[in-house]
Amino acid sequence: MVKEIDNPIILHKLAQLRDKRTPSKIFRALVQEISMLMIYEVGREFKSDEIEIETPLKTCRVKVLREENFVIVPILRAGLAMAEGVSKILPSASVGHIGLYRDEKTFQPIEYYCKMPPNLRGKILIVTDPMLATGGSSSAALQMLKDKGAQKIIFMCIVAAPQGIEKISSEHPDINIYAAAIDEGLNENCYILPGLGDAGDRIFGTI
Ligand code: PRP
Ligand code: URA
Repeated sequence: MVKEIDNPIILHKLAQLRDKRTPSKIFRALVQEISMLMIYEVGREFKSDEIEIETPLKTCRVKVLREENFVIVPILRAGLAMAEGVSKILPSASVGHIGLYRDEKTFQPIEYYCKMPPNLRGKILIVTDPMLATGGSSSAALQMLKDKGAQKIIFMCIVAAPQGIEKISSEHPDINIYAAAIDEGLNENCYILPGLGDAGDRIFGTI
């Protein structure tokens, strides 16, 4: 399943992200804010538990999330800013990290780090990376998580290219993809068009 979150507030913030004049400090804040807004939509697929609590007036049954069952997994580097946004909404979720970068010539993902909490089985993993371009990095990350026992994974990105969606959908048909926008395609360097440029460089000011 692919869901393009068609929300005017998110699109307004995305417009600022796309603008090449937006400085790193604002760019990073916008990525966080968009992620906070997106997780609200993603959250529709979370299952609540019902428990009994006491208000100051009487007992009642309420719906709660088992936040400790969530694992936020940013793909380094750019996914970090999204993870910060998501963890503001799910502050008790644990955070695992996957380090991958795309080789500049082959566009293939190179893995350099992976640190996950133990026992992924039964957890809900929320993988974050603002850019789904060829899909090489995210597909590799999803496979790494499955190899470690993950069963339920949701993938959140800000901008997706059709090629990346196609790759994830065919290699990982069980994964739900959420994107703020699905763009036209890729250029000859596998950058998303119109996209927003190199997300990691813009977030961390390494341009
Ligand atoms: C970017 C982006 C994704 C990847 C997307 O990371 O954050 O991880 O490229 O491209 P793909 O779908 O074609 O694999 P990058 O390799 O630039 O690493 P960085 O975040 O460390 O800058
Ligand atoms: N990585 C990015 O940061 N941007 C793109 O457009 C493609 C890959």
